[in-house]
Amino acid sequence: MTYKACLFDLDGVLVDTAIYHFQAWRTLGKQFDFELSHEQNEGLKGISRVESLEKILHWAHYQATQEQKERWLKEKNDTYLELISHMNPSEILPGVISFLSQLKEQGYLIALGSASKNARIILEKTGLITWFNAIIDGNLVTKSKPDPEVFLKGAAALHCQASDCIVFEDAQAGIDAAKAGGMKVIGIGSQKVLQGADKVISSFTDLQVSELLHL
Ligand code: G6P
Ligand code: MG
Repeated sequence: MTYKACLFDLDGVLVDTAIYHFQAWRTLGKQFDFELSHEQNEGLKGISRVESLEKILHWAHYQATQEQKERWLKEKNDTYLELISHMNPSEILPGVISFLSQLKEQGYLIALGSASKNARIILEKTGLITWFNAIIDGNLVTKSKPDPEVFLKGAAALHCQASDCIVFEDAQAGIDAAKAGGMKVIGIGSQKVLQGADKVISSFTDLQVSELLHL
């Protein structure tokens, strides 16, 4: 098969901001005596800020008021913004720039499909922004992954069909979203954790653009 476009998730795919989300939620959790585990954090990847807080409060068995929830969402984001304020191009994950340049050379279109409302800040701080033909972030979607909205909007912004696109994702919710949208998907991470991807790689250093033709 030939494809026209690649749609990238951001957190955990192009940059390792998953660790900053984890730290920011752990800091917030102290307010209601909750310690988020690595395993629980895996279930927050790809999920919006609001839904993440709901899941955490459920795990903590904590009944929060609407006012508390709104305050905590802001506090979590303030901590996160402080953590990402020092980001720079050195935090781009291994092999990413080489892979993006191969894609460009070979005429692929490139879009971002991220649930994060902070995606543009991160793309700017790392210099990644220049690679993208379209950016769909958490400000442009109403339904969270595993709903395919973010990737369908990415394909539409590039004037492509779903079947023209390959999605790159580190979260199970994102893999499910790509599949629901009728797209091929490459998982970044562990084969044991990520179910249903067309291929799983541990890093972009393991992948050549020519291999995309065999998906
Ligand atoms: C990504 C991350 C999630 C995060 C979500 C919203 O999908 O994987 O962990 O909660 O974006 O991010 P935001 O920057 O808007 O809080
Ligand atoms: Mg991710």
